[in-house]
Amino acid sequence: MPAPAPALDSPDPGFDELLARRPALSMDPLAGLAMEDVPLARIAAAVGTPTWVYSATTLRRRAGALKRALAEAGLAASIHFATKANPSLAVVNLLAREGLGADVVSEGELLAARAAGVPASGIVFSGVGKTAREMRLALEEDILQINVESAEEAEMLSAVAQGLGRRARCALRVNPDVDARTHAKITTGLTENKFGVPIALAPALYARMCALPGLEPVGLAVHIGSQITQGVASYAAAYRRLGELVRALRAVGHPVRRVDCGGGLGISYRDESPASPEALAGAIKAGLGGLDLALMLEPGRWICGPAGVLLSEVIIEKQGLGRRFVILDAAMTELLRPAMYEAWHGILPVSPAAFRAPLSAADVVGPVCESSDTFARGRMLPPLPPHSLVAFLDAGAYGASMSSTYNARPLAAEVMVEGARFAVIRERQSHAALLAGQRIPASSADWVT
Ligand code: LLP
Repeated sequence: MPAPAPALDSPDPGFDELLARRPALSMDPLAGLAMEDVPLARIAAAVGTPTWVYSATTLRRRAGALKRALAEAGLAASIHFATKANPSLAVVNLLAREGLGADVVSEGELLAARAAGVPASGIVFSGVGKTAREMRLALEEDILQINVESAEEAEMLSAVAQGLGRRARCALRVNPDVDARTHAKITTGLTENKFGVPIALAPALYARMCALPGLEPVGLAVHIGSQITQGVASYAAAYRRLGELVRALRAVGHPVRRVDCGGGLGISYRDESPASPEALAGAIKAGLGGLDLALMLEPGRWICGPAGVLLSEVIIEKQGLGRRFVILDAAMTELLRPAMYEAWHGILPVSPAAFRAPLSAADVVGPVCESSDTFARGRMLPPLPPHSLVAFLDAGAYGASMSSTYNARPLAAEVMVEGARFAVIRERQSHAALLAGQRIPASSADWVT
């Protein structure tokens, strides 16, 4: 069974506590909330709101910490950033310069990774439903590896590769039937989930893949879920099962050179205490160490989640019957996670005066016409008159990447901060761009018969 939603009966962490655990953020008594050395109010004034803001130093520091943990455990492992968490070209490019490859799940992500400067030799293609067109692109680009998720997909990939006169380097994604004890909507390693092939069927399928003319099986892949915060026991169980499978496959003569260990390491949004990268490295080593494997990791959230905030302005405060609503210019169209997973994100006022002002409970909502367009209920916040700025914390992963244009809302701008400077890395979408590509059929020439 998936873990129940986290109990929220403990009091929310206070502003100072939230800040203390986020080294890229600080409260300047004059300039207000700053990321690195740039006051967020300066970015709002220059770029408007809502705007995503990412800390380059945090991205670098976290990529470095993960690399170090793997190296110190003596693991020969490469890191492939799950671009679905944040496909911004500037973010992926920064991480590529730190030596990270990319894990992609669509033609769009593959093209974005290449455009961001990730070499094809550092790209893994995951996902349960790759089209023939996506397979062809991956093969033409000669990416590192395609993770196959079913017997049917193995046949299809072999045929596509043969059509191009190639053999596809591929891994078999195994579903180890391990409960990652995370939110039911983001668990992936249970038999009831659509991902991977049941581990019991893997030996026969791997043998079949070795026999297919268009495939070159190189190993196995696993990914048990996302926002894993309950220690590393689930990881350890999955890797132990994978290790046994590696031995069994090799015993009958199949080549198994690599294991892709997936992603999923959680972060602390509220008061969770997820495992450290060192503990994760330990679980990998216990299950897969000593097998002479090239290991791979596909982290998304752990790298970029804590590196970003969503900056938003208060439109109006509305007093309801015994309820105070703070209505922001950001909505579920930007940060979908609270509406979709009941996710908790810290919300900090940006101005120094508001940061220290008396608090009262408020429901924090967006302007979209859905009751689920609610970021928080009963959150303790200071008075927030119109034009006050707030920052949603830990919004660097699955924030911008899950945005939509519902209610004809253009996509928000994205900014990267580095030290005392900032750069717009994605312009705010214009209303013209939002309407572009649409047509109202007028003459009969517009209709296909
Ligand atoms: N590899 C595979 C095959 C995946 O499916 C995922 C995430 C990852 C790697 C990266 O997982 P991470 O390290 O970021 O946990 N939208 C949800 C999360 C969905 C994750 C989907 N797969 C959220 O906002 O929490």
